[in-house]
Amino acid sequence: MAHDLIRVIKERRSIREYLPKPIPREVLEDILDCGRLAPSARNIQPWLFVVSTEKEIKEGIAKLALYGKFIANAAACISVFCERDSKFLVEDGCAATQNMIIAAKAYGVDSCWVAGYERPYSEDIRELLGVPEKYKLISLISLGYSDKSASRPKKTLNEVVRWEKY
Ligand SMILES: Cc1cc2nc3c(=O)[nH]c(=O)nc-3n(C[C@H](O)[C@H](O)[C@H](O)COP(=O)(O)O)c2cc1C
Repeated sequence: MAHDLIRVIKERRSIREYLPKPIPREVLEDILDCGRLAPSARNIQPWLFVVSTEKEIKEGIAKLALYGKFIANAAACISVFCERDSKFLVEDGCAATQNMIIAAKAYGVDSCWVAGYERPYSEDIRELLGVPEKYKLISLISLGYSDKSASRPKKTLNEVVRWEKY
């Protein structure tokens, strides 16, 4: 129901503390499927999603990601890559990222988007994951069940909207 989706979008918040509870494989697969179906410029679909659930790999990513130390305690981390010669790699990768974050929330799985594009650690994470050079990291998504909630100040609609013209 559209109403459910709107609620999911409005209730999503970045959550950085997770319970030690794995995410079922079929849930992860459906989250990834929602990434696969995101819009992309000229429908090139330049993305590659690397799913990490093994402790050592998540710890390796966490060590490298400056503001993503909590990835070590996430149930999973999805690293979103796009082909580096793709014209709209950032937009396409971000569309897929947002789709997956919303899909996760619909399954009751919390997440946090961690910066990945042109960060000092982007290439190190690509190498750690054995991803070919033709790809560039766009984002990291930490995922997990959580009993935490967050409420962050948001701008009002009036602050961010102009109808017809400025
Ligand atoms: C492009 C992008 C990069 C982000 N990078 C990080 C990050 O490196 N570490 C982190 O903890 N949160 C990161 N965030 C999450 C934001 O801090 C968060 O979305 C923002 O504070 C608003 O909070 P909310 O998601 O709960 O609405 C990132 C979000 C975006 C969209």
